[in-house]
Amino acid sequence: MTEPLRTRAVGTDLERVDGWAKVTGVAPYADEHPVPNPAYLQAVQSTVARGRVTEVDARAATALDGVLTVLTPFNAPPLRLGHDAELEVLQSDAVWFRGQIVAAVVAETPEIARQAADLVRVSFDVRPHDVTLSADRDDLYKPEVVNPRHPTDTLTGDPDSAFDSADRAVDATYTTAMYHNNPMEPHTTVAVWHGDDDTAALTLYDSTQGVHPLRDAVAAVFDLAPERIRVVSPYVGGGFGSKGRPHAHVVLAALAARRTEGRAVTFAVSRRQMFSFVGYRTPTIQRMRLSAGTDGRLTGISNDVVELTARFKEFAEQTGLPTRTMYAAPHRRTTHRLAALDVPVPSWMRAPGECPGMFAPEVAMDELAEACGLDPVELRLRNEPERDPDTGLPFSTRNFVACLTEGARRFGWESRPRVSRSTRDGDWWVGTGVAGSTYPVLRQPGSAAASVRYRDGRYEVGIGAADLGTGSSTVLTQIAADALDVAVDDVDLRIGDTALPRAPVAGGSSGTANWGSAVVAAARQFRGKYGPDPADGDEYTGSDDGGKKRFAMAAYGAQFAEARVNVHTGEIRVPRLLGVFAVGRVINPRTARSQLVGGMTMGLSMALHEASVLDERFGFVVNHDFAEYHIATCADVPSVEARWIDEDDPHLNPMGSKGIGEIGIVGTAAAIVNAVHHATGVRIRDLPITNDKVFEPNLSM
Ligand code: MOS
Repeated sequence: MTEPLRTRAVGTDLERVDGWAKVTGVAPYADEHPVPNPAYLQAVQSTVARGRVTEVDARAATALDGVLTVLTPFNAPPLRLGHDAELEVLQSDAVWFRGQIVAAVVAETPEIARQAADLVRVSFDVRPHDVTLSADRDDLYKPEVVNPRHPTDTLTGDPDSAFDSADRAVDATYTTAMYHNNPMEPHTTVAVWHGDDDTAALTLYDSTQGVHPLRDAVAAVFDLAPERIRVVSPYVGGGFGSKGRPHAHVVLAALAARRTEGRAVTFAVSRRQMFSFVGYRTPTIQRMRLSAGTDGRLTGISNDVVELTARFKEFAEQTGLPTRTMYAAPHRRTTHRLAALDVPVPSWMRAPGECPGMFAPEVAMDELAEACGLDPVELRLRNEPERDPDTGLPFSTRNFVACLTEGARRFGWESRPRVSRSTRDGDWWVGTGVAGSTYPVLRQPGSAAASVRYRDGRYEVGIGAADLGTGSSTVLTQIAADALDVAVDDVDLRIGDTALPRAPVAGGSSGTANWGSAVVAAARQFRGKYGPDPADGDEYTGSDDGGKKRFAMAAYGAQFAEARVNVHTGEIRVPRLLGVFAVGRVINPRTARSQLVGGMTMGLSMALHEASVLDERFGFVVNHDFAEYHIATCADVPSVEARWIDEDDPHLNPMGSKGIGEIGIVGTAAAIVNAVHHATGVRIRDLPITNDKVFEPNLSM
């Protein structure tokens, strides 16, 4: 383990270093880089969910003034196949899902491109499609691994026998909906080619969670050396995972720019198109079984998960993971089975695995508490494991108990009525609920490098990191300042460019840990070489080194919710959410709070509002816009409070930090479901909690 960072700037609530650039509008997002004379791309999407493209009639489109080219599966430049089926855009006539890109128009203006795209006539050989997920399909299959490389199934002991002989038990099936990522800034790619075939080089201005991973993926499909591609992405307006991996639109923009003789091609993905080709969270069906003694101590726990993937590419969400590690029980099982359907490929969305995978267990724990006649906080305290149940490793730090007790104290839990449906305030049933949160500490030691350059009395620190609006450039500035032992004002941080040292994706809540460790290492190496008084122009690029994993490492939290349910209409309000988290050292309270509150808000949105409605007849998400895919607004979220307990964990990284980007969304929906049950006595097991599910004719009696 490398030496801990001596902290001075770290821990303070430094204002965002990019705040002024953003609020004054000078921070260039992907669509706003000044490229000369760009052309504009519009995609033509499949209107069928399965089949083949038999013909593309582009005559009317090409006849339009200002249309430069129309790309089809029959004329598109070839790509190198076999790396990633999602990126093989326009390489065959196969249609795998409705909304797939089957042609593209490039024109002088976005308006002409859009009009021309409407004029492209695509004929299909249509095949019957199937987009229906159910747990009783006979073609469910077991994937080799679940995202990213976890075992698909785990088994310890005999959970079924434990269940059969249990004093207290829960056996229930829970479902989460399909959800789509909707960052404020839609995905955009601007592609420019330079040089001809032998010297071809590509610049991409993109909105991405990782310039280097994006570069490498695009290099593979274009069969180019990665050094011939530059990706520039200094500002990103949110991602949540949807910009964590390249999608077809990036390749399409680069493919089209092959045809425009050096002119840049801009493809600004529309909000509606984001429901077709930038990934989403699979719906899940989770059968939970809990068995316990009369004292509430778990003897068995199992989660059997069914979810979907695309027929042309597999993504297996790791939904069973939290069940492997959250509570002690001698008999345990998790399984994952997939239905391969005629749908776009699911992908990452804030806390893939943990987010849906803590919904079922944390509602089931509430049901077990009721079955045992125990307070749900007390039930969790009784099932706290001494070591990680999955690996047997000791925890580096696990302060779940502290989160529960501190949260209970702050929330006023001790005055909570034992019996559900016992508090009425005018026309509203009132109740409270609790649920646990967890997110693993993911680290790739040595995956990042950073550069330090001294010039004109200032330190320029460079790393190909991404700031999705999370504040990572701010916290990296703090880390760099402390590692160099200078003031934050003396540091200029540069990120978001493959011209800077390599960095892994902003994903798995691991960005700050990976990038920060590299910044600390490079700064120390710079100081080691040049001492405290460097000369103008001194420069050093360095990387951290890896360590062996001797501990189970994760962040924890406890979320408390108050729900009010209208006795006449079933309307659900959540006036109060409190989350208490144990996330290692908080590097910047201002940006950390924003991440945790943001995650909890997204969890509330998942609990009450969000669901992508897949029309089985036509095979597409019908509510593919903000009019019908409702995301929580300020009016839906009166009070969300995030707090944390001090945690000093020397095993993590030099900063002592755990990830904070994702844990906030984990457990929120379960806490709200549990609060709705406490308010009304109605147990909801299927998200979202819409009025019809709580409304019963006798609710007002
Ligand atoms: Mo996050 S879903 O790991 O980008």
